Amino acid sequence: MITGKFPNLRLRRSRKDKWSRRLIEENTLTSSDFILPLFLIEGKNKKQSINSMPGVYRYSLDKIYYVIDRAINLKLPMVALFPHTKKTKKNNLGSEALNENNLVCKAIQLIKKRYKNEIGIMCDVALDPYTSHGHDGLLNSNYVLNDETIEILISQALLQAQMGCDVIAPSDMMDGRVGKIRKSLDKNGFQMTQILSYAVKYASNFYGPFRDAVGSKNLLIGDKKNYQMDFRNKSESLREVALDIKEGADMIMVKPGLPYLDIIKLVKENFKIPVIAYQVSGEYSLLSNAINKGIVSKEIILESLISFKRAGANAIVSYYADRINEILRI
Ligand code: PBG
Repeated sequence: MITGKFPNLRLRRSRKDKWSRRLIEENTLTSSDFILPLFLIEGKNKKQSINSMPGVYRYSLDKIYYVIDRAINLKLPMVALFPHTKKTKKNNLGSEALNENNLVCKAIQLIKKRYKNEIGIMCDVALDPYTSHGHDGLLNSNYVLNDETIEILISQALLQAQMGCDVIAPSDMMDGRVGKIRKSLDKNGFQMTQILSYAVKYASNFYGPFRDAVGSKNLLIGDKKNYQMDFRNKSESLREVALDIKEGADMIMVKPGLPYLDIIKLVKENFKIPVIAYQVSGEYSLLSNAINKGIVSKEIILESLISFKRAGANAIVSYYADRINEILRI
């Protein structure tokens, strides 16, 4: 490994000049590495700020063209749609998920109509934006039911595919849902619709601001520990990924990102499958608030994004994606 000895060997020699540092850099990022989350809200002419996520907004459908135009100009390959659902549209069963006129369905149609295949669309499959209790599935005495929830998720996924969604992203952590969704997509003529499985999703405290963004924060009863993974566990992530690959996943998500770089590396080294890291809302808020307070330099964003690449991620879901030109220019 070490091919020389000081003073013949001076590693600082190659670090001295910027051109030289550029020459030997091992990891780089381009806009193709990013997926931009987009929060949707009902109404007209709305660009609503989210208190816990400075610089991130919820957009009404008439305003999303501005965001998509920007994403395409930046050459981002894909956007991920997330709805903020009114309390009055939430219920125990999350029925709004199956309404073909819901925010996500309308947004998919509008984007596909105007932009065709210029940009990919990814949609979460889970019930939490739509349930009155804030859980990703059906609740029975504080336990989220697995098989009963999957039946609804299959319909949610199929509906999104019918609307034109390119990448179905189950983020619910029910056992066996990838296989069942794949089967139903195939049976209905959507063999080419991809599945990005949130295979490794930890029950994390880093999701707080997201729940605020989709309006489920104060509704959530208890926690999600009976379906999302325990943050003490590592090898269990390999079992989750192995199962989802067998069931037909095209890509694997590891989530959150920064506290789980070891998991990204582990999954990448064990399975030859695209791995996507999710730099989640809590990571975004911590970084952004610290930058805004002058506690850390804004280059911290680039540093944390590069760490995902170093760990082996193929791409990153990041709330910074719409500002990636400024970030990569540092
Ligand atoms: C919903 C979902 C969550 C996130 C993405 N999809 C929250 C959760 O599971 O509670 C979190 C994203 C983020 O924090 O940025 N299943």
